Amino acid sequence: MTDPSPVDRPSDPRLGGRQLQRIVYDAATIARRVGELGAEITDTYGSGDLLVVGLLKGSVIFVSDLVRAIRRPLQIDFLAASSYGAGMASSGTVRLVYDPETPLEGRHILVVEDIVESGRTMARLLDLLRQRGPATVEVCALLHKRIATALQEPVRFVGFDAPRDFLVGYGLDHAEDYRHLPYIASI
Ligand code: IMP
Ligand code: MG
Repeated sequence: MTDPSPVDRPSDPRLGGRQLQRIVYDAATIARRVGELGAEITDTYGSGDLLVVGLLKGSVIFVSDLVRAIRRPLQIDFLAASSYGAGMASSGTVRLVYDPETPLEGRHILVVEDIVESGRTMARLLDLLRQRGPATVEVCALLHKRIATALQEPVRFVGFDAPRDFLVGYGLDHAEDYRHLPYIASI
């Protein structure tokens, strides 16, 4: 994809005058892919309870679209982990900030994440969730930078193989800004 010159960039009032590098996935592209992921997930699970666990806050927009594309019964919960401060570099430690302790025993757990980078966040959470006796645990990540060295297992459902840029929008933030952009852009 070519990088549009600043003059070609659509001005978006959501940005408050700030500049983005380029739009990497527009809203229509995301919607199409989320629909496909929903169908894939629908086809994967047979009988049994499905609990979709969204990781706060990055997955909120994605998970709300994704669950509406899954055509089977399910329940929704959330977990919050924090591996980033206000900057763009991972701090290396994964902290659980919110853990609702929903019973997971015997249920199919689908963890929904905005983006997998080092894989540390996911590896830590999968360890934790597996201790609670679920029937299965799978991950659905909208974006995967394909540089994860901390995650031993493959991510079952991936929306897009993402560029290694820092991305914002559709739930992804930089210092809590930009989560509400309906597209994903690099900054
Ligand atoms: P990991 O633990 O290194 O895989 O990082 C995953 C977490 O870091 C995600 O849940 C995001 O919150 C955050 N993150 C990683 N890359 C990006 C990015 O490009 N933009 C915004 N957040 C990111
Ligand atoms: Mg984040």
